[in-house]
Amino acid sequence: MHKIQKIKGFTDLFSPESTVYTYMENLARTVFGTYGCQEVRTPILEKTELFARSIGEETDVVQKEMYTFCDRKNRSLTMRPEATAGVLRAFIESGLYTRDTVSKLFTYGPMFRYERPQKGRMRQFYQLNVEVLGTEAPQADAEVILMLWAFLSKLELGNLTLELNSLGCPACRPTFHKHLREFLNTINQEELCEDCLRRTTTNPLRVLDCKVPTCKNLVANAPSITDSLCAHCADHFVQVREILDLAHLPYHLNDRLVRGLDYYQRTTFEVVSGDIGAQTAVAGGGRYDGLIQQLGGPNLPGIGFACGMDRLALLYAQNHAPSHDFYMFALDNSALNTALLLAQRLRNRGFVGEVSFETKSIKSQMRQANKLGVKTCLILGEDEMNKGQIVVKDMATGVQKAIGQEDLEQALGFRKS
Ligand code: HAM
Repeated sequence: MHKIQKIKGFTDLFSPESTVYTYMENLARTVFGTYGCQEVRTPILEKTELFARSIGEETDVVQKEMYTFCDRKNRSLTMRPEATAGVLRAFIESGLYTRDTVSKLFTYGPMFRYERPQKGRMRQFYQLNVEVLGTEAPQADAEVILMLWAFLSKLELGNLTLELNSLGCPACRPTFHKHLREFLNTINQEELCEDCLRRTTTNPLRVLDCKVPTCKNLVANAPSITDSLCAHCADHFVQVREILDLAHLPYHLNDRLVRGLDYYQRTTFEVVSGDIGAQTAVAGGGRYDGLIQQLGGPNLPGIGFACGMDRLALLYAQNHAPSHDFYMFALDNSALNTALLLAQRLRNRGFVGEVSFETKSIKSQMRQANKLGVKTCLILGEDEMNKGQIVVKDMATGVQKAIGQEDLEQALGFRKS
């Protein structure tokens, strides 16, 4: 029988990756919980109309990337390409908005986009998602960004940059569209990609978002959206920045940041890393006032973000040593039980590690230790048993020495610090 393989762009997650996902999920729950976020779980499958109406008909996501199919009663359903639309639908449908003035909702789970798979870009990927609904205060924008940053900082992922922009509101957007159209009329539009050529009439803002290098070059001198903001949006953006400055959170103003989804207004942001290849964005979000109403709900503003867990996991692996503290093995059958009990003692103190159940050659034990990626090997031979000692081998330096078994925690603790 031939083997059945997984679908392209989908992946199986084994430890240590799966452990990192669980860790991030729990950390997110804890950090976002300190801001008052409540967890919500919404279905993976939704009516296609939900995404078409919120994300926008003209976006790549809706036009090319959705997993859409008809069910047995010929209803068009879509596997969620992102979480915001489903969370807002649930918020409206449950009437949650009648209970709270501001709702802070956290959700986590798999999303599906039919994109070309590459490092950091999957067809099934995982997002950690937060939505703060019911306030347009610039303090809320700042808090959402600070919340995201607090979470990312705890993951210690190396250099991350916060990119910030304001996309204006329905009052000022037409002015910018006019300036942008005028600019687009001055360039050689035939050099634009097929999608952008269409977008010049349907949704010119999207042209600024195109990743095709020729398009990027052609729009390099396009007008800046921040120059067209109305007084209300300009003031809102200044206030958001003021709070971020007060909180000493550095950001980079990027007036080309229009995001890939159509529902954004005013504050938009992305967190990017230069360490994961072509897919640089590890998180993105922004304000979407008007969207709740567009989905049939009350006229309430909202802002949120999503982190791409798969990209965070790539960065996590690059920035963190493997999680096992020790691998313990006995050289003699008579030491097997002592090794097991010593390992037990270490785990009680919070150390993470494994113990070998068999005596094998040192070479094959070392191979296993390397496979686990442990920092320290603990070796029990006959001699050590007789003296109440154990050999501690630092896997990074190769240095090893015998210590009293009673000093084991201290030796490992020292290594950990
Ligand atoms: P997004 O920018 O489309 O925003 O996605 C957020 C993050 O999900 C990206 O920055 C990236 O890290 C990750 N991501 C997206 N597509 C893929 C993929 N194919 N493979 C791996 N990771 C991916 C949203 O989805 C908005 N709903 C965020 C939001 C929430 N805005 C307001 N509230």
